[in-house]
Amino acid sequence: MRVPDIIIAVDGYSSTGKSTFAKLVAKAFGFLYLDSGAMYRGVTLFAQEQGYINGANEISPALEAALEGLDLHFENGTQLFMGDRCIEGVIRTMAVSNQVSPVAAVPWVRKWVDERLHRFSENGRVVMDGRDIGTTVFPNAELKVFMIASDQVRAQRRFDEIAAKGENPVFEEVLKNLLERDYIDSHRETSPLVQAPDAFVLDNSEMTLTEEIAWVQGVIQGKFGILC
Ligand code: DC
Repeated sequence: MRVPDIIIAVDGYSSTGKSTFAKLVAKAFGFLYLDSGAMYRGVTLFAQEQGYINGANEISPALEAALEGLDLHFENGTQLFMGDRCIEGVIRTMAVSNQVSPVAAVPWVRKWVDERLHRFSENGRVVMDGRDIGTTVFPNAELKVFMIASDQVRAQRRFDEIAAKGENPVFEEVLKNLLERDYIDSHRETSPLVQAPDAFVLDNSEMTLTEEIAWVQGVIQGKFGILC
C-alpha cells in the first residue's frame, strides 16, 4: 500500500547511518531524499575556498552577505552542486568535516540552510536527515526517527567511507572528530542536536539494512495503520 504524503525526519549523531537509512527509505517509498548535512558542508567549503574561515575556526561576518550569491542545490537526487560544479566528493573530506560544526553553529548560516530545505521540500513526500529536522526544520513532521549507534561502530563507518575515497584516515583522528562534532552539535545555542520527544529511536549498531527497513515498515504500520 502507498505510504501517505508525509515528511519523514531522520536525526541523530554523526555517522549513525542516517543518510544510508534515509536514502533506502526514500527509494522504498518513492520519496525525495534530502541530506541537510550536505548543505552545511557546502557552505563550509564555500567559506574555506573564499577565505571566510581561518584555521582557528573564526568565521568572517562578511560570509553572511556572500551567502546571498551562493547557489547550492541537489541534482540527480543526491549530488550536491555549487553552481554547475559537483561538490559531492570534496564536501566529505576531513578538511571540510573538521570545520563544518563551527559553521553549522552560526544562526544566520542555519537560517540560510533552513530556507533552502523548505524550498526543496515544497512538494512533500520527503525523507530528510540531519540534526534538527524533527525539532526545528519540520517540527510537525509526521514521522520522526532518532538514530543512535555505538562510538566504535560509528567511527569505523566514517573511517571506511573516507578510505574508500582514497584518503588515508587515522582511526583515532576519525573517532576524535566524531566526538568533537557530537559535542559541538549538541551544545550549540541555536537548534542543538536533541531527540524530539515524539521520535522513534533506532539503534542500528547491530542491524543490517534489511532489518532497518523492516523496522521502519513496522513503525509506519503501527502509526498509520497501513502495510507498506
Ligand atoms: O550529517 P553530516 O555529518 O554530513 O553533517 C555535517 C555537519 O552539519 C554536522 O557536524 C552537523 C551539521 N548539521 C547540522 O547542524 N544540522 C543538520 N540538520 C545537519 C547537519
